[in-house]
Amino acid sequence: MPIRKITEYPEKVLGEVGRPVTKFDQELANLCSDMFETMYDAEGVGLAAPQIGLNLRLFVMDCEDIKLIAANPEIIATEGEQSSQEGCLSVGKVPAVVVRPQKARLRAQNEKGEWFEQDAEGYAARAFMHETDHCNGTLFIDHLPKMRRDMLVKKFKKEKTWK
Ligand code: NI
Repeated sequence: MPIRKITEYPEKVLGEVGRPVTKFDQELANLCSDMFETMYDAEGVGLAAPQIGLNLRLFVMDCEDIKLIAANPEIIATEGEQSSQEGCLSVGKVPAVVVRPQKARLRAQNEKGEWFEQDAEGYAARAFMHETDHCNGTLFIDHLPKMRRDMLVKKFKKEKTWK
């Protein structure tokens, strides 16, 4: 079952806090490989487990020169500020400008359960924060002022009915 169906806003799982990953076995490795395939197929740079309907703290990412699997991710440090366009495969790629820190340090476990830390800047740092948010039931639109959020959701729903 390689390419999975991507869940879209407002499916419930996208708003739930994910369960921790506790088993680092072949099943997890297979799941991550499916997630990479699904992400590349959708031309995304990151994909979190809730986006394929799983309530799990897990994401995969391939953004700029950083390719990784992150289980139980946490952002443990941030610095500076950046303001640029951001989109999400679960919100039909409708983009919006989101203000976030310029740098971020990620702490997570790889597919073997080994903890690691990774620093990123700019777009890749944004991806760290966006995907970690997914594991906490937060979407990028939740960072927008209410009026802008409502406008974006309206635009997304309209686009959906065209499909
Ligand atoms: Ni997303």
